[in-house]
Amino acid sequence: MSTSATPPASGAVSSSTADTNAAVRVRDLHKSYGELEVLRGIDLDVAAGEVVCLIGPSGSGKSTLLRCLNLLETPQSGSISVGGFTVTDPDLDVDAMRRRVGMVFQQFNLFPHLSVLENCTVAQVKVLKRPAAEAKRVALANLERVGLSEKADQRPAQLSGGQQQRVAIARALSMDPDLMLFDEPTSSLDPETVGDVLAIMRGLAADGMTMLVVTHEMSFARDVADRVVFMDGGVVVEQGPAREVIGSPQHQRTRTFLSRVLDPTTVDAPEAPDTRA
Ligand SMILES: Nc1ncnc2c1ncn2[C@@H]1O[C@H](COP(=O)(O)OP(=O)(O)O)[C@@H](O)[C@H]1O
Ligand SMILES: [Mg+2]
Repeated sequence: MSTSATPPASGAVSSSTADTNAAVRVRDLHKSYGELEVLRGIDLDVAAGEVVCLIGPSGSGKSTLLRCLNLLETPQSGSISVGGFTVTDPDLDVDAMRRRVGMVFQQFNLFPHLSVLENCTVAQVKVLKRPAAEAKRVALANLERVGLSEKADQRPAQLSGGQQQRVAIARALSMDPDLMLFDEPTSSLDPETVGDVLAIMRGLAADGMTMLVVTHEMSFARDVADRVVFMDGGVVVEQGPAREVIGSPQHQRTRTFLSRVLDPTTVDAPEAPDTRA
C-alpha cells in the first residue's frame, strides 16, 4: 500500500499559506478531552474536487476530527488549513471560514420551528447578507436539486428522516460551500430512505464538490470515494484508493473493522482487552 496518497501540491507552500489545490490539510493534530487523547497525531489531505471517505470504529475520533476542521472543537496542537484559511491560526476569521464549509450531521439539526424553505434561507440572509428574494431563489433551486421543492412550506417534523436529511443538504448547499463535511449522514435513517440521501451525495460528487464523508456505507465509499481513510484509536491506520483499502486492506485492524461492517453477523475471535482509554 502506498502511503503517498497525499495529493500533489502545486508548487511550494509555506506553512502559513494554504495550497490552492488543498481543500483540507491537517498535520500532526492532537485533541484531548481531559486525560483522554482522542486524536493522536492525525495527518489528512483532501484535494479540491476530491471525495474522501473516513471510516473506522465507533470512538475512533472521526467526529472529533470533523469538528476540529471547522473549530466546533479546539485542538491542543497541530495545524489545520481549510481552503485558504489556517484554522489553527489564533487570528482566524472563524465566521468567514465557516461560510466556506458546509456540514451535515447524523441528526439533521434542522430548525423545528421554521419551514423547510426558511431553514434554507435563514443563514443566507443573516450570514451572507443576501436579499430575501435571492435567498429564496437559491433555496428553491437547492430543494429542487434534492427533490423536495414541493415540501418548501412544511415543517421538518412533517418529513421523513431521509427527507429531513435532504433538506439539511440543501441548506448547506445554499451557502455555496467549497467543501462539504458529512458525519454519518445516513446512520439514523430508516433503510428505505438511505438510498435517496446517498443518491444526492453521489450527484454532488459527480458535480465536483469536495467532500469529506464519515460513513459506514461501504458500497458508497467503494463507488464514490477517490480515497478511503481508516482511523482507529485516534490515528490514521491506513489510507489509499477506495478499492484498495476496502478490497485488500493491508492492516489487521482494517480487516477486522471491514469484516464487521460488511457482515455485522461476523463473530470475532476473542481480542485482547482495549487498554487505550
Ligand atoms: N465532548 C467530549 N467530551 C469528552 N469526551 C468526548 C467528547 N466528544 C467525544 N469524546 C470521546 O472521544 C472519543 C472519540 O469520539 P468521536 O470523535 O465521537 O468518535 P467517532 O465519531 O469515531 O465515533 C470517544 O471516546 C468519545 O467518548
Ligand atoms: Mg462519530
